[in-house]
Amino acid sequence: MEVKFYQPENQVPLEMHKVRVVQKLSLLPVEERLKRIQQAGNNTFLLQNKDVYMDMITDSGVNAMSDEQVAAMSIADDAYAGSETFNRVKAAIKQVFGTDYVLPAHQGRAAENILAEAYVKPGMVALMNFHFTTTKAHITRLGGEVVELVDKKGLIPQSKDPFKGNFNLRALKKAIETYGPEKVAFVRVEAGTNLIGGQPVSLENMLAVSDICHDYGVKSVLDASLLQDNVYFMKMREAQCKYMSTREIYHILANKMDIIYFSGRKLGFSRGGIITSHNKKYINEMMGFVPLYEGFLTYGGMEVRSMEAMAVGLLESLDMEYISQGPEFIAYLVNELDQYGVPVIKPAGGLGAHLNCSEILPDIPHDQYPAAALAAALYIAGGIRGMERGTLSEQREPDGTERFAELELLRLAMPRRVFTLSQVKYCADRVKWTYDNRHLIGGLEWVEEPKVLRFFFGRLKEIGYWQEDLAAKFRQDFGDSL
Ligand SMILES: Cc1ncc(COP(=O)(O)O)c(C=O)c1O
Repeated sequence: MEVKFYQPENQVPLEMHKVRVVQKLSLLPVEERLKRIQQAGNNTFLLQNKDVYMDMITDSGVNAMSDEQVAAMSIADDAYAGSETFNRVKAAIKQVFGTDYVLPAHQGRAAENILAEAYVKPGMVALMNFHFTTTKAHITRLGGEVVELVDKKGLIPQSKDPFKGNFNLRALKKAIETYGPEKVAFVRVEAGTNLIGGQPVSLENMLAVSDICHDYGVKSVLDASLLQDNVYFMKMREAQCKYMSTREIYHILANKMDIIYFSGRKLGFSRGGIITSHNKKYINEMMGFVPLYEGFLTYGGMEVRSMEAMAVGLLESLDMEYISQGPEFIAYLVNELDQYGVPVIKPAGGLGAHLNCSEILPDIPHDQYPAAALAAALYIAGGIRGMERGTLSEQREPDGTERFAELELLRLAMPRRVFTLSQVKYCADRVKWTYDNRHLIGGLEWVEEPKVLRFFFGRLKEIGYWQEDLAAKFRQDFGDSL
């Protein structure tokens, strides 16, 4: 896929698209950045986007649309029931996954809610390579438990393992036998495992998981939200996939998995959520929850224009020229940071670059949230908004004690087709400065801690006055630069 440059030292990832609509950005002076992050309770979710230069909090619903997606939005068929737009979404899903049965939902977590409502009963377990925040919240809300079975290699921050999202297959069998198949609500494979650094799962491993599920009579579920990056890595890193088309890979997976769901904010460069299956039985078991929670069966809470964008975007998810841009830009950022000596999760995965905060800030304990502290520091340093993916993103245990995250990560997501390479270089530069001044960074403590999904809207403050010191050091080093 790579276009080779004549001068090897000029080699960079080359975009196979051009930008035709732009949005003005502002970069506030460091004193203002300090004020804004403190007003936001040191929670990057609570920053105003107008105060952010590079918004790397997520790639969810913020990817740039193609001209064809925007064009498709203008032919949306705005009907409560029986909309032609839904038929076009179904046709796209048929092309991409080969499946006939489709349920719409307003986003990925709504699909998770439906899945959990249909299959999780108190005392049941959901086995998965790794949890995702909203997935786990729905399962535990219904009295279920999440059991993570990622191979332990996945939790080693720096490694050469190409598929760090893989299940430990022996542990999967053992867990099904220990709990008993009737207690297993489902086995969930998360493609492009979000919380451990966007790390992919191999096709071989996914297929082996579904074989095990079928041997034991347990449902296999694929969370395909990050499948686009995962398919790119399968083609680049897995011998059997090298000469397969992307479509072949999607179809092989869909033939094996009982249920597939995804966030349209990720897969398909759009919005919304989808549940799909070859098997009508599963769709029938979940269908009743769609009108209850989402909307009628032909829109499920989605806006018709987004559905048209999804239909086109899903087909773009098959195009390697489109889907390679994200992972290639992420690899570029990861390599720059690695060369600067900044501890970063390796190999580069999908979604974004993930800074290893346990190594960057080893003296800040888990319960002073090192990854959130680094997120605040990086906003002060460069107006860059990342997302904490560590202890703060965990739920407390039922007895109120902290559950310490396996990995304390600061994620710098790479929205697709959005940033230029100069902006990515700026990001690497400001991370390097923050890293070189890490001795100034201290911890955070709660001001307001919500009980559910606390990372979204909790408020914290600095312990001591380290943020003022960091801003002063920035002024000293950068003079009157923004
Ligand atoms: C793997 C995974 N599953 C589910 C979701 C939830 O999707 P949504 O944000 O559309 O609710 C996400 C969102 O980031 C995700 O990454």
